[in-house]
Amino acid sequence: MSRAPEQAERLLYEEAATLTERAYAPYSGFAVGAVVVGPSGRSHHGVNVENASYPAGLCAERAALAAMVVAGERSLRTVAVAAVGGQDCLPCGLCLQALAEFGDPAIVARVAGELVVVQLSDLLTTPFSCADGAP
Ligand code: THU
Repeated sequence: MSRAPEQAERLLYEEAATLTERAYAPYSGFAVGAVVVGPSGRSHHGVNVENASYPAGLCAERAALAAMVVAGERSLRTVAVAAVGGQDCLPCGLCLQALAEFGDPAIVARVAGELVVVQLSDLLTTPFSCADGAP
């Protein structure tokens, strides 16, 4: 279900970890950075952006996903997620569904203190899809 990261994946995780400095997380204190990579190989960055009205907050993964789509890419190869201080952090269920719209990426994240790579489809086996939806 999970494997050890390759060097390039370790570097993506480090890139995500650096982004946590730019997160806006005054309510939870749990700063998160995410990097998503599409077919071009370019990195697209996101951080969590919280709000005084808590449900209005945005996770880092969906912020990065939006940056990728704005940049003109619609296919996910790799997603790296890092939380402040190297804490464990896998994408939440909402983010898994959002990411699944654009493929079945490898997810690089820390789990039980270990940096691992897990496929999105192993975390979310049955994403919602709409028969009349996008291709
Ligand atoms: N958060 C993320 O940005 N990504 C995750 O994978 C898990 C949680 C954010 C949401 C909220 O701002 C904070 O972390 C605490 O849940």
